[in-house]
Amino acid sequence: MEKPILSVPPTSSAQAIPLYLGDGLLETLLPELLEGEGFSAVFIVTNETLAPLYGNRLAERVKGARLLVVPDGERFKTLETAASLYQQLLEAGADRKSVLVALGGGVIGDLTGFVAATFLRGLPFIQVPTSLLAMVDASLGGKTGVDLPIGKNLVGAFKDPLAIVSDLEVLHTLPQIEFRNGLAEVLKAGLIGDRHLFACLEAGEVEQLKEIVLAAVRVKVDILSRDPLEQGERAFLNLGHTFAHAIEQATRYRVPHGQAVAVGLRAAAWLSERLGFASDGLLARVERALSRLGLRSAVPEAQVEEMLQAMQYDKKRQQRQLRFVLLKSIGQPFITSEAPPEALREVLEVIREHPGR
Ligand SMILES: NC(=O)c1ccc[n+]([C@@H]2O[C@H](COP(=O)([O-])OP(=O)(O)OC[C@H]3O[C@@H](n4cnc5c(N)ncnc54)[C@H](O)[C@@H]3O)[C@@H](O)[C@H]2O)c1
Repeated sequence: MEKPILSVPPTSSAQAIPLYLGDGLLETLLPELLEGEGFSAVFIVTNETLAPLYGNRLAERVKGARLLVVPDGERFKTLETAASLYQQLLEAGADRKSVLVALGGGVIGDLTGFVAATFLRGLPFIQVPTSLLAMVDASLGGKTGVDLPIGKNLVGAFKDPLAIVSDLEVLHTLPQIEFRNGLAEVLKAGLIGDRHLFACLEAGEVEQLKEIVLAAVRVKVDILSRDPLEQGERAFLNLGHTFAHAIEQATRYRVPHGQAVAVGLRAAAWLSERLGFASDGLLARVERALSRLGLRSAVPEAQVEEMLQAMQYDKKRQQRQLRFVLLKSIGQPFITSEAPPEALREVLEVIREHPGR
Protein backbone atom coordinates (compact mmCIF):
# COMPACT_ATOMS: atom_id res chain seq x y z
CA MET A 1 0.00 0.00 0.00
CA GLU A 2 1.07 3.60 -0.69
CA LYS A 3 3.05 5.16 2.19
CA PRO A 4 1.97 8.32 3.98
CA ILE A 5 3.94 11.37 2.85
CA LEU A 6 4.05 12.72 6.40
CA SER A 7 2.46 12.50 9.86
CA VAL A 8 0.22 15.24 11.13
CA PRO A 9 0.39 15.90 14.89
CA PRO A 10 -2.83 15.03 16.73
CA THR A 11 -4.98 17.56 18.58
CA SER A 12 -7.60 15.39 20.29
CA SER A 13 -6.09 11.90 20.22
CA ALA A 14 -2.78 10.24 20.95
CA GLN A 15 -2.06 9.00 17.43
CA ALA A 16 -0.30 11.02 14.75
CA ILE A 17 -2.41 11.16 11.61
CA PRO A 18 -1.01 9.71 8.37
CA LEU A 19 -1.35 12.07 5.42
CA TYR A 20 -1.33 10.61 1.93
CA LEU A 21 -0.77 12.92 -1.02
CA GLY A 22 -0.62 11.88 -4.65
CA ASP A 23 -2.48 11.23 -7.88
CA GLY A 24 -5.34 8.79 -8.20
CA LEU A 25 -5.64 7.95 -4.49
CA LEU A 26 -9.45 7.94 -4.63
CA GLU A 27 -9.27 4.96 -6.96
CA THR A 28 -6.49 3.03 -5.28
CA LEU A 29 -5.47 3.80 -1.73
CA LEU A 30 -8.79 5.00 -0.31
CA PRO A 31 -10.84 1.87 -1.14
CA GLU A 32 -7.98 -0.27 0.24
CA LEU A 33 -7.89 1.73 3.47
CA LEU A 34 -11.65 1.54 3.91
CA GLU A 35 -11.86 -2.18 3.31
CA GLY A 36 -8.80 -3.12 5.32
CA GLU A 37 -9.68 -1.64 8.69
CA GLY A 38 -12.62 -3.84 9.70
CA PHE A 39 -15.22 -1.06 9.88
CA SER A 40 -18.81 -2.20 10.44
CA ALA A 41 -20.03 0.21 7.75
CA VAL A 42 -18.70 3.02 5.54
CA PHE A 43 -20.64 6.29 5.06
CA ILE A 44 -19.33 8.73 2.46
CA VAL A 45 -20.53 12.25 3.20
CA THR A 46 -20.36 14.57 0.21
CA ASN A 47 -22.34 17.30 -1.57
CA GLU A 48 -24.49 17.54 -4.67
CA THR A 49 -21.59 18.80 -6.82
CA LEU A 50 -19.10 16.15 -5.79
CA ALA A 51 -21.44 13.12 -5.68
CA PRO A 52 -21.68 12.81 -9.48
CA LEU A 53 -17.99 13.72 -9.95
CA TYR A 54 -16.44 11.37 -7.38
CA GLY A 55 -18.88 10.17 -4.70
CA ASN A 56 -20.91 7.70 -6.74
CA ARG A 57 -17.82 6.04 -8.16
CA LEU A 58 -16.16 5.76 -4.76
CA ALA A 59 -19.32 4.26 -3.25
CA GLU A 60 -19.35 1.65 -6.03
CA ARG A 61 -15.71 0.74 -5.41
CA VAL A 62 -16.02 0.20 -1.66
CA LYS A 63 -18.06 -2.82 -0.67
CA GLY A 64 -21.22 -1.88 1.26
CA ALA A 65 -20.45 1.86 1.27
CA ARG A 66 -23.39 4.29 1.48
CA LEU A 67 -23.43 7.81 0.11
CA LEU A 68 -24.93 10.64 2.19
CA VAL A 69 -25.38 13.75 0.05
CA VAL A 70 -25.97 17.25 1.42
CA PRO A 71 -26.57 20.47 -0.53
CA ASP A 72 -23.47 22.42 -1.66
CA GLY A 73 -22.48 25.63 0.13
CA GLU A 74 -21.36 27.29 3.34
CA ARG A 75 -24.99 28.11 4.13
CA PHE A 76 -25.60 24.41 4.69
CA LYS A 77 -22.76 24.04 7.23
CA THR A 78 -25.39 24.12 9.97
CA LEU A 79 -26.80 22.21 12.92
CA GLU A 80 -29.83 21.40 10.73
CA THR A 81 -27.65 19.62 8.16
CA ALA A 82 -25.81 17.83 10.97
CA ALA A 83 -29.18 16.72 12.41
CA SER A 84 -30.25 15.34 9.04
CA LEU A 85 -27.01 13.34 8.88
CA TYR A 86 -27.57 11.97 12.44
CA GLN A 87 -31.03 10.87 11.33
CA GLN A 88 -29.77 9.13 8.19
CA LEU A 89 -26.99 7.41 10.14
CA LEU A 90 -29.48 6.13 12.70
CA GLU A 91 -31.84 4.85 10.04
CA ALA A 92 -28.96 3.05 8.32
CA GLY A 93 -27.92 1.37 11.58
CA ALA A 94 -24.55 3.14 12.02
CA ASP A 95 -22.62 2.20 15.16
CA ARG A 96 -19.37 3.30 16.76
CA LYS A 97 -17.37 1.04 14.48
CA SER A 98 -18.77 2.71 11.39
CA VAL A 99 -16.54 5.20 9.61
CA LEU A 100 -17.47 8.51 8.01
CA VAL A 101 -15.59 9.72 4.95
CA ALA A 102 -15.57 13.50 4.43
CA LEU A 103 -15.36 13.80 0.63
CA GLY A 104 -15.30 17.50 -0.23
CA GLY A 105 -13.93 20.94 0.48
CA GLY A 106 -13.63 22.59 3.88
CA VAL A 107 -17.40 22.79 4.33
CA ILE A 108 -17.85 19.02 4.06
CA GLY A 109 -14.71 18.41 6.15
CA ASP A 110 -15.87 20.67 8.99
CA LEU A 111 -19.43 19.35 8.95
CA THR A 112 -18.54 15.65 8.70
CA GLY A 113 -15.84 15.99 11.35
CA PHE A 114 -18.37 17.60 13.66
CA VAL A 115 -20.88 14.79 13.09
CA ALA A 116 -18.10 12.24 13.66
CA ALA A 117 -17.17 13.99 16.93
CA THR A 118 -20.73 14.05 18.26
CA PHE A 119 -22.79 11.17 16.85
CA LEU A 120 -22.87 8.36 19.46
CA ARG A 121 -20.20 10.42 21.28
CA GLY A 122 -17.78 9.91 18.49
CA LEU A 123 -16.94 7.61 15.63
CA PRO A 124 -13.93 7.44 13.32
CA PHE A 125 -13.69 9.57 10.20
CA ILE A 126 -11.34 10.07 7.28
CA GLN A 127 -10.65 13.42 5.63
CA VAL A 128 -10.64 13.35 1.85
CA PRO A 129 -10.15 17.02 0.97
CA THR A 130 -11.05 17.90 -2.63
CA SER A 131 -10.35 21.65 -2.72
CA LEU A 132 -6.89 23.22 -2.60
CA LEU A 133 -7.90 25.15 0.53
CA ALA A 134 -9.04 21.99 2.30
CA MET A 135 -5.82 20.16 1.34
CA VAL A 136 -3.47 22.85 2.66
CA ASP A 137 -5.53 24.13 5.56
CA ALA A 138 -9.00 22.91 6.61
CA SER A 139 -8.22 19.18 6.76
CA LEU A 140 -5.25 19.75 9.09
CA GLY A 141 -5.38 20.59 12.77
CA GLY A 142 -8.49 18.86 14.05
CA LYS A 143 -10.92 21.78 14.05
CA THR A 144 -14.44 20.78 13.06
CA GLY A 145 -17.72 22.60 13.40
CA VAL A 146 -20.77 24.32 11.99
CA ASP A 147 -22.01 27.90 11.65
CA LEU A 148 -24.81 29.57 13.61
CA PRO A 149 -27.00 32.29 12.03
CA ILE A 150 -25.04 34.91 14.01
CA GLY A 151 -21.57 33.84 12.95
CA LYS A 152 -19.26 31.28 11.38
CA ASN A 153 -17.77 28.26 13.16
CA LEU A 154 -19.42 29.05 16.51
CA VAL A 155 -20.17 25.44 17.44
CA GLY A 156 -17.55 22.77 17.07
CA ALA A 157 -15.10 20.29 18.48
CA PHE A 158 -11.53 19.17 18.03
CA LYS A 159 -11.68 15.79 16.31
CA ASP A 160 -8.76 14.12 14.59
CA PRO A 161 -9.38 12.03 11.49
CA LEU A 162 -7.91 8.53 11.24
CA ALA A 163 -6.17 9.58 8.04
CA ILE A 164 -6.06 12.38 5.48
CA VAL A 165 -6.14 11.35 1.83
CA SER A 166 -5.42 14.17 -0.65
CA ASP A 167 -5.82 13.14 -4.28
CA LEU A 168 -4.33 15.88 -6.46
CA GLU A 169 -6.17 14.64 -9.55
CA VAL A 170 -9.48 15.94 -8.24
CA LEU A 171 -8.16 19.50 -8.40
CA HIS A 172 -8.68 19.37 -12.19
CA THR A 173 -12.40 19.87 -11.69
CA LEU A 174 -12.06 22.55 -9.02
CA PRO A 175 -13.42 25.87 -10.38
CA GLN A 176 -10.65 28.42 -11.07
CA ILE A 177 -12.01 30.83 -8.48
CA GLU A 178 -11.84 28.15 -5.79
CA PHE A 179 -8.30 27.27 -6.87
CA ARG A 180 -7.33 30.91 -6.36
CA ASN A 181 -8.99 30.94 -2.93
CA GLY A 182 -6.69 28.07 -2.01
CA LEU A 183 -3.66 29.83 -3.48
CA ALA A 184 -4.21 32.73 -1.06
CA GLU A 185 -3.75 30.29 1.84
CA VAL A 186 -0.70 28.78 0.15
CA LEU A 187 0.78 32.27 -0.16
CA LYS A 188 0.01 32.82 3.53
CA ALA A 189 1.89 29.62 4.36
CA GLY A 190 4.91 30.82 2.38
CA LEU A 191 4.89 34.16 4.18
CA ILE A 192 4.64 32.53 7.60
CA GLY A 193 7.22 29.83 7.21
CA ASP A 194 8.73 29.00 3.84
CA ARG A 195 10.83 31.50 1.88
CA HIS A 196 11.36 29.10 -1.00
CA LEU A 197 7.61 28.51 -1.37
CA PHE A 198 7.07 32.26 -1.33
CA ALA A 199 9.73 32.81 -4.00
CA CYS A 200 8.06 30.21 -6.28
CA LEU A 201 4.71 31.95 -5.90
CA GLU A 202 6.29 35.35 -6.44
CA ALA A 203 7.65 34.01 -9.72
CA GLY A 204 4.19 32.69 -10.60
CA GLU A 205 5.42 29.09 -10.55
CA VAL A 206 2.51 26.89 -9.55
CA GLU A 207 2.90 24.04 -12.04
CA GLN A 208 4.64 21.79 -9.53
CA LEU A 209 1.41 21.38 -7.65
CA LYS A 210 2.47 18.46 -5.48
CA GLU A 211 5.54 20.33 -4.21
CA ILE A 212 3.52 23.46 -3.54
CA VAL A 213 0.76 21.64 -1.67
CA LEU A 214 3.31 19.68 0.33
CA ALA A 215 5.30 22.80 1.24
CA ALA A 216 2.16 24.59 2.46
CA VAL A 217 1.07 21.51 4.42
CA ARG A 218 4.50 21.33 6.07
CA VAL A 219 4.26 24.92 7.29
CA LYS A 220 0.98 24.17 9.09
CA VAL A 221 2.18 20.78 10.35
CA ASP A 222 5.36 22.33 11.80
CA ILE A 223 3.31 24.90 13.68
CA LEU A 224 0.82 22.26 14.87
CA SER A 225 3.65 20.12 16.18
CA ARG A 226 4.70 22.97 18.49
CA ASP A 227 1.24 24.32 19.34
CA PRO A 228 -1.62 21.90 18.56
CA LEU A 229 -4.27 23.69 20.63
CA GLU A 230 -3.65 27.32 19.69
CA GLN A 231 -2.03 28.52 22.85
CA GLY A 232 0.67 30.42 21.04
CA GLU A 233 2.13 30.28 17.61
CA ARG A 234 -0.79 28.47 15.95
CA ALA A 235 -2.23 31.99 15.81
CA PHE A 236 0.41 32.80 13.12
CA LEU A 237 -1.86 30.90 10.76
CA ASN A 238 -4.24 33.85 11.07
CA LEU A 239 -1.88 36.12 9.13
CA GLY A 240 -4.08 38.50 7.11
CA HIS A 241 -7.25 37.07 8.62
CA THR A 242 -8.24 39.92 10.97
CA PHE A 243 -8.37 42.13 7.87
CA ALA A 244 -10.01 39.40 5.80
CA HIS A 245 -12.87 39.03 8.29
CA ALA A 246 -13.39 42.79 8.34
CA ILE A 247 -13.45 42.86 4.51
CA GLU A 248 -15.93 39.98 4.38
CA GLN A 249 -18.25 41.67 6.87
CA ALA A 250 -17.99 45.10 5.29
CA THR A 251 -18.85 43.64 1.86
CA ARG A 252 -21.56 41.29 3.22
CA TYR A 253 -19.48 38.31 2.11
CA ARG A 254 -19.54 39.40 -1.55
CA VAL A 255 -15.73 39.13 -1.58
CA PRO A 256 -14.85 35.41 -1.34
CA HIS A 257 -12.77 34.36 1.66
CA GLY A 258 -9.59 33.61 -0.32
CA GLN A 259 -9.67 36.99 -2.05
CA ALA A 260 -10.27 38.71 1.30
CA VAL A 261 -7.27 36.83 2.72
CA ALA A 262 -5.19 37.97 -0.28
CA VAL A 263 -5.98 41.62 0.44
CA GLY A 264 -5.45 40.93 4.14
CA LEU A 265 -1.92 39.70 3.41
CA ARG A 266 -1.17 42.95 1.63
CA ALA A 267 -2.57 44.85 4.63
CA ALA A 268 -0.38 42.87 7.04
CA ALA A 269 2.72 43.54 4.92
CA TRP A 270 1.89 47.25 4.67
CA LEU A 271 1.34 47.55 8.44
CA SER A 272 4.54 45.62 9.17
CA GLU A 273 6.51 48.17 7.14
CA ARG A 274 4.57 51.21 8.41
CA LEU A 275 5.22 50.27 12.04
CA GLY A 276 8.89 49.72 11.31
CA PHE A 277 8.94 45.99 11.99
CA ALA A 278 9.81 44.98 8.43
CA SER A 279 12.20 46.67 6.09
CA ASP A 280 11.24 48.13 2.73
CA GLY A 281 10.63 45.59 0.07
CA LEU A 282 8.30 43.19 1.87
CA LEU A 283 5.16 44.95 0.68
CA ALA A 284 6.37 45.18 -2.91
CA ARG A 285 7.11 41.44 -2.93
CA VAL A 286 3.68 40.57 -1.53
CA GLU A 287 2.01 42.80 -4.10
CA ARG A 288 4.02 41.16 -6.88
CA ALA A 289 3.03 37.68 -5.70
CA LEU A 290 -0.66 38.62 -5.52
CA SER A 291 -0.55 39.99 -9.03
CA ARG A 292 1.30 36.93 -10.40
CA LEU A 293 -1.24 34.57 -8.83
CA GLY A 294 -4.23 36.52 -10.12
CA LEU A 295 -5.31 37.41 -6.59
CA ARG A 296 -6.94 40.64 -5.57
CA SER A 297 -4.87 43.27 -3.82
CA ALA A 298 -7.58 45.90 -3.29
CA VAL A 299 -11.18 46.15 -2.16
CA PRO A 300 -12.47 49.55 -3.35
CA GLU A 301 -16.01 48.42 -2.53
CA ALA A 302 -15.33 48.07 1.22
CA GLN A 303 -15.88 51.18 3.33
CA VAL A 304 -13.19 52.05 5.91
CA GLU A 305 -15.74 52.79 8.66
CA GLU A 306 -17.47 49.47 8.15
CA MET A 307 -14.20 47.55 8.26
CA LEU A 308 -13.21 49.39 11.46
CA GLN A 309 -16.59 48.60 12.97
CA ALA A 310 -16.26 44.92 12.10
CA MET A 311 -12.88 44.82 13.84
CA GLN A 312 -14.25 46.52 16.95
CA TYR A 313 -17.15 44.07 17.09
CA ASP A 314 -14.71 41.19 16.82
CA LYS A 315 -12.62 42.66 19.62
CA LYS A 316 -15.65 43.18 21.89
CA ARG A 317 -16.87 39.66 21.30
CA GLN A 318 -13.56 38.23 22.33
CA GLN A 319 -13.11 40.71 25.20
CA ARG A 320 -9.55 41.35 24.33
CA GLN A 321 -7.34 43.72 22.45
CA LEU A 322 -7.19 43.47 18.71
CA ARG A 323 -4.18 41.37 17.89
CA PHE A 324 -2.44 41.33 14.55
CA VAL A 325 -0.08 38.81 13.07
CA LEU A 326 2.63 40.83 11.33
CA LEU A 327 5.94 39.99 9.68
CA LYS A 328 9.51 40.95 10.48
CA SER A 329 10.43 39.41 7.16
CA ILE A 330 9.29 36.48 5.06
CA GLY A 331 9.21 33.46 7.35
CA GLN A 332 9.29 35.54 10.54
CA PRO A 333 5.78 36.21 11.82
CA PHE A 334 4.97 37.65 15.26
CA ILE A 335 1.91 38.85 17.13
CA THR A 336 1.32 42.39 18.31
CA SER A 337 -1.54 44.32 19.84
CA GLU A 338 0.27 47.58 19.33
CA ALA A 339 -1.21 48.96 16.15
CA PRO A 340 -2.12 52.62 16.75
CA PRO A 341 -5.63 53.61 15.57
CA GLU A 342 -4.28 56.06 12.97
CA ALA A 343 -2.13 53.36 11.38
CA LEU A 344 -5.14 51.06 11.29
CA ARG A 345 -7.25 53.67 9.52
CA GLU A 346 -4.39 54.34 7.08
CA VAL A 347 -3.96 50.68 6.17
CA LEU A 348 -7.68 50.30 5.52
CA GLU A 349 -7.51 53.30 3.20
CA VAL A 350 -4.49 51.78 1.43
CA ILE A 351 -6.21 48.47 0.68
CA ARG A 352 -9.09 50.27 -1.04
CA GLU A 353 -6.60 51.41 -3.67
CA HIS A 354 -4.74 49.29 -6.17
CA PRO A 355 -0.96 49.25 -5.73
CA GLY A 356 1.05 51.66 -7.77
CA ARG A 357 -1.65 54.32 -7.95
N1 LIG B 1 -11.26 23.38 10.11
C1 LIG B 1 -10.35 24.27 9.78
O1 LIG B 1 -9.26 24.35 10.36
C2 LIG B 1 -10.64 25.21 8.64
C3 LIG B 1 -9.62 26.01 8.11
C4 LIG B 1 -9.91 26.82 7.02
C5 LIG B 1 -11.20 26.84 6.50
N2 LIG B 1 -12.17 26.07 7.06
C6 LIG B 1 -13.55 26.05 6.52
O2 LIG B 1 -13.49 25.57 5.18
C7 LIG B 1 -14.59 26.10 4.44
C8 LIG B 1 -14.06 26.59 3.12
O3 LIG B 1 -13.53 25.49 2.43
P1 LIG B 1 -13.46 25.46 0.84
O4 LIG B 1 -12.80 26.70 0.36
O5 LIG B 1 -12.93 24.15 0.44
O6 LIG B 1 -14.99 25.65 0.41
P2 LIG B 1 -16.11 24.58 -0.01
O7 LIG B 1 -16.05 23.38 0.80
O8 LIG B 1 -17.40 25.35 -0.04
O9 LIG B 1 -15.68 24.23 -1.50
C9 LIG B 1 -15.70 25.24 -2.48
C10 LIG B 1 -16.55 24.83 -3.70
O10 LIG B 1 -15.77 23.99 -4.50
C11 LIG B 1 -16.49 22.78 -4.76
N3 LIG B 1 -15.48 21.74 -4.89
C12 LIG B 1 -14.63 21.28 -3.93
N4 LIG B 1 -13.80 20.40 -4.45
C13 LIG B 1 -14.08 20.28 -5.75
C14 LIG B 1 -13.54 19.53 -6.82
N5 LIG B 1 -12.48 18.75 -6.67
N6 LIG B 1 -14.12 19.65 -8.05
C15 LIG B 1 -15.18 20.48 -8.23
N7 LIG B 1 -15.71 21.23 -7.28
C16 LIG B 1 -15.17 21.13 -6.05
C17 LIG B 1 -17.42 22.63 -3.60
O11 LIG B 1 -18.52 21.81 -3.93
C18 LIG B 1 -17.82 24.08 -3.35
O12 LIG B 1 -18.83 24.47 -4.25
C19 LIG B 1 -15.20 27.18 5.31
O13 LIG B 1 -16.39 26.68 5.87
C20 LIG B 1 -14.16 27.42 6.40
O14 LIG B 1 -14.74 27.83 7.62
C21 LIG B 1 -11.91 25.25 8.11
